[in-house]
Amino acid sequence: SDSTEETKYTVRAKMGETEIFDGTKTQTYGYNGDFLGPVLQFEKGETVTINLINELDVGTTFHWHGLKIPGEADGGPHNVIEPGEEDTIKFEVTQEAATLWFHPHPDGDTSEQVYKGLAGLIYIEDENIKELDLPDDYGKNDFPLIFQDRTFDEDKQLNYDAVMNEDGTVGDVSLINGTVNPKLTVGQEKVRLRLLNGSNARNYTFKMNTGDTFAQIATDGGLLNEPVEMEELTLTPSERAEIVIDFSKIDDERDVALVNDSDDILLPFEVTDEAAAEIDIPDKMNQFSVTEAEKDLPVTKEVELFGMMDMVTINGKKFDPERIDFTQERGVTEVWEIYNKPDMMGGMIHPFHIHGAQFKTLSRDGEAPPRNERGWKDTISVSPDETVRLAVQFNDKGVYMFHCHILEHEDNGMMGQIKVE
Ligand code: C2O
Ligand code: CU
Ligand code: CU
Repeated sequence: SDSTEETKYTVRAKMGETEIFDGTKTQTYGYNGDFLGPVLQFEKGETVTINLINELDVGTTFHWHGLKIPGEADGGPHNVIEPGEEDTIKFEVTQEAATLWFHPHPDGDTSEQVYKGLAGLIYIEDENIKELDLPDDYGKNDFPLIFQDRTFDEDKQLNYDAVMNEDGTVGDVSLINGTVNPKLTVGQEKVRLRLLNGSNARNYTFKMNTGDTFAQIATDGGLLNEPVEMEELTLTPSERAEIVIDFSKIDDERDVALVNDSDDILLPFEVTDEAAAEIDIPDKMNQFSVTEAEKDLPVTKEVELFGMMDMVTINGKKFDPERIDFTQERGVTEVWEIYNKPDMMGGMIHPFHIHGAQFKTLSRDGEAPPRNERGWKDTISVSPDETVRLAVQFNDKGVYMFHCHILEHEDNGMMGQIKVE
């Protein structure tokens, strides 16, 4: 790109107090504020400088989930910033428009730090998306929604040690963007929701309580080629999706809400009479493709996910910061085959994530992936006994993590390292 622009950010991990429940203060963590973080806006082609400051009383890292970034700036477990210290990273944004996120990644302490509130969003824009007719009026017809579940103790505190489950901490309270009783006011128009499953371990299945469908327009790493009509959509931890709901087609007499697969309300909507100019979502939004050559590539990396609780492994091993599990050449596409090996109990879904890359899903158990997975992904859910093939390429050099994104599994060692040369 021709862009010579430069964006500078300061991202400060800090402790805070948040009134999540009326009249009580909950001790939280946040980026720049008390709880969660800002939306960082990058543009393809520009150079971004971020000053990272750790004001916590524990070491942390700043990981850019989904971003193609040199290994040394990726914020993996090797990039710990001690309390009171700071660091600066600088990189060029080389990838297309997408909704990514950032969170800490210190070895063994990721889950607790995310649980307490360290998570923020990144929007990447490019020329293509600016020309498309999509809802993009932030806070009006374009909303970020971070879904998380938490358990609060009697004093309404996030006591992680008390609730921590080795198999993934799930909570009984649903939070959206850090609030417990969210409600979204929307007009009778097409509204874009950028969904992030920011939970430690819970899978969410989203659907409309009215039975209406919605259109999925983006995956983790970019726009789909065309909108995909969906009755429901499941996101495992760290997956994102952008959906468009057409509120002009929904009967506003009813209580409209986004619900989960047990019909529990996640997000109620208040639909007003207002409507902006009609938006025609284009049939052709992107140029994503899997080439014949990619389909013909042999499998050169095999990854076996196994176990539950603290007995989780990848290829029979636990994470060792001193061990490099794989190497790959930068700019070369390789096929990774991910297999989720069931155990005696049957096993569970593991969301498999690779740092520093966006990959293509080639197949699920030998079949073409569903239409809404035919786009760039950085995290893929793998069910027990399922085999998923991915075409993976890295732009930059460095050491990157790959792991299960159930954060307690990651902290329990369900993680490996790849060195890109
Ligand atoms: Cu969301 Cu290893 O990261
Ligand atoms: Cu990541
Ligand atoms: Cu797992």
